[in-house]
Amino acid sequence: MTEIELVWHLHNVSKRNRSIQKKQQPCILWFTGLSGAGKSTIAGAVEQKLYEMGHHTYLLDGDNVRHALNKDLGFSDEDRIENIRRIGETSKLFVDAGLLVLTAFISPFQSDRRMVRELVGKNEFIEIHMATPIETCEQRDPKGLYKKARKGEIKNFTGIDSEYEQPERAEITINTTELSIEQCADVVIDYLKSNQMIFAYNE
Ligand code: ADX
Repeated sequence: MTEIELVWHLHNVSKRNRSIQKKQQPCILWFTGLSGAGKSTIAGAVEQKLYEMGHHTYLLDGDNVRHALNKDLGFSDEDRIENIRRIGETSKLFVDAGLLVLTAFISPFQSDRRMVRELVGKNEFIEIHMATPIETCEQRDPKGLYKKARKGEIKNFTGIDSEYEQPERAEITINTTELSIEQCADVVIDYLKSNQMIFAYNE
């Protein structure tokens, strides 16, 4: 790579200014788990609740992001690492913008999730493990992908022939087999409230 000289420009309006204006502590709500574990569904339900409370959010979803920003990436280990790196950097920008960012990616590797955690401030990364057992995910199979993976029509499918490394210190763990969508979303909202990350100013 050719060397380039870059100087970071400090702008007038800071993350703190934007955060105060929005009455919220910006952060990443990082949903991780197997395909079919309920990441997108619960992230969507949490976003809906936050929106109704007057908060400012943005949801980044695996399937959607892979249609655009990351459409050049597949499912090799290398591509998954690059997928999460780009999402991490994008999320960091949105945190800087003062938003509550929700992400729904399998993000199977511990080291990648740690990398994103280390990109942002101490209280700005909340790992949410959607710990739905693989048997349930496979039974649900909302996109018919487990069936295809079992037949060998899809390679490197997480949980079948590609590894999912369980989080060791997730801030929140949710098993969707035990709770309704509403209850799962409330677990996350309650966490944000009890950690003073959102101020219920519009309820
Ligand atoms: S990640 O592993 O790189 O974090 P990501 O969340 O972006 O994955 O994308 C996962 C989605 O891609 C799944 O929900 C599924 O719809 C689709 N998909 C297609 N092929 C695969 C595969 N081999 N493994 C997992 N998901 C796949």
